Amino acid sequence: MAILVTGGAGYIGSHTCVELLDAGYEVIVVDNLSNSKEESLKRVREITGKPVKFYKADLLDRQAVNEIFKNEPIEAVMHFAGLKAVAESVSMPLRYYHNNITGTLTLLYVMQLHNVKKIVFSSSATVYGNPHTVPITEDFPLSAVNPYGQSKLIIERILSDLYNSEPGWNIAILRYFNPTGAHPSGRIGEDPNRIPNNLFPYITQVAVGKLKVLNVYGSDYDTPDGTGIRDYIHVVDLAAGHIKALQKLNENPGIVVYNLGTGRGYSVLEVVNTFSKVTGINIPFRFAERRPGDIATSFADPSKAKNELGWTAKYGLDEMCADAWRWQQNNPDGYK
Ligand code: NAD
Ligand code: UFG
Repeated sequence: MAILVTGGAGYIGSHTCVELLDAGYEVIVVDNLSNSKEESLKRVREITGKPVKFYKADLLDRQAVNEIFKNEPIEAVMHFAGLKAVAESVSMPLRYYHNNITGTLTLLYVMQLHNVKKIVFSSSATVYGNPHTVPITEDFPLSAVNPYGQSKLIIERILSDLYNSEPGWNIAILRYFNPTGAHPSGRIGEDPNRIPNNLFPYITQVAVGKLKVLNVYGSDYDTPDGTGIRDYIHVVDLAAGHIKALQKLNENPGIVVYNLGTGRGYSVLEVVNTFSKVTGINIPFRFAERRPGDIATSFADPSKAKNELGWTAKYGLDEMCADAWRWQQNNPDGYK
């Protein structure tokens, strides 16, 4: 029996493929390569020494998805496929709602048709909106301030309604905090198409000389050094959390929601300083206006995942910096 990984050629999906293969699962990937390269899967095979079957298909193409389920012995789905750029979602809401929500609905219809009812879904800490306090537990009120976040909230609701409507569904919703870092081999990592939106890839591209200076968005937040605080989590830890969630669904069927974070927040300046300490590279930066929609502080209370899944993050900020840098240094132009 195999695990279907949607969006498996992407950043988090490719790292999760490695963990799945290392844990002995058979892996099948479906991806339309809209934000990734097939090269990532070649490298997953190289790292693990195991085969990965790949279907280049769009989740919006119901017939194509149906063919995959007809051909393959799929027992569960890990659903990463989606568009994820917050600012782009504001300028292209229809594209984001269509791709993320309709893509998920198509997948769920086909799963239902083939009686495959186990799914692990990539949600995001963005569903907590601007939290009233930190650390954030799973029962905090949910809200969204942009179409990307709305699409995650709506999909969470769809999954919960589906679970309530029909026995047998087995659903894990994983709310990621700030995934970063790369596989320690330096062979797979985050490969943004354009100028990165996120802090870590921006820093590594400054370090490698592709970008000149980091803009630090906001110096007057209500935080100790005035810059935004986030819960950065190593992508290998995140991937390991998916294996634990799958095991949980196998042992204890139901619907579950977990935060995947370290429980520790770092400010932008702490990240910049740690990156310089670990790599020996100075990162020039300047303070800029706050980025619209950003919040001051976000970090997880990860104790539910610890208690129920036996999962905790193993890697700290030093390893995130070292591994992100190894990937960038070895692959200055990503997979190109
Ligand atoms: P990514 O863009 O690297 O990976 C997503 C993959 O899905 C890409 O390979 C893309 O080509 C594919 N895809 C998109 N739409 C598709 C479609 N309609 N059909 C088939 N394939 C499609 O992004 P990522 O960082 O690996 O994120 C994976 C998931 O985790 C996403 O759902 C994202 O929203 C969620 N998430 C990411 C972060 C983050 O900071 N990276 C944080 C929270 C949640
Ligand atoms: N930042 C900068 N300069 C940059 C990029 C980011 O100062 O060039 C700052 C931001 O203002 C923020 C912190 O670095 O304080 C982290 O920003 P990221 O863009 O890396 O991450 P976000 O927390 O804004 O967003 C991430 C994901 C979203 C997801 C959100 C909540 O990118 O998809 O976490 O889970 F919705």
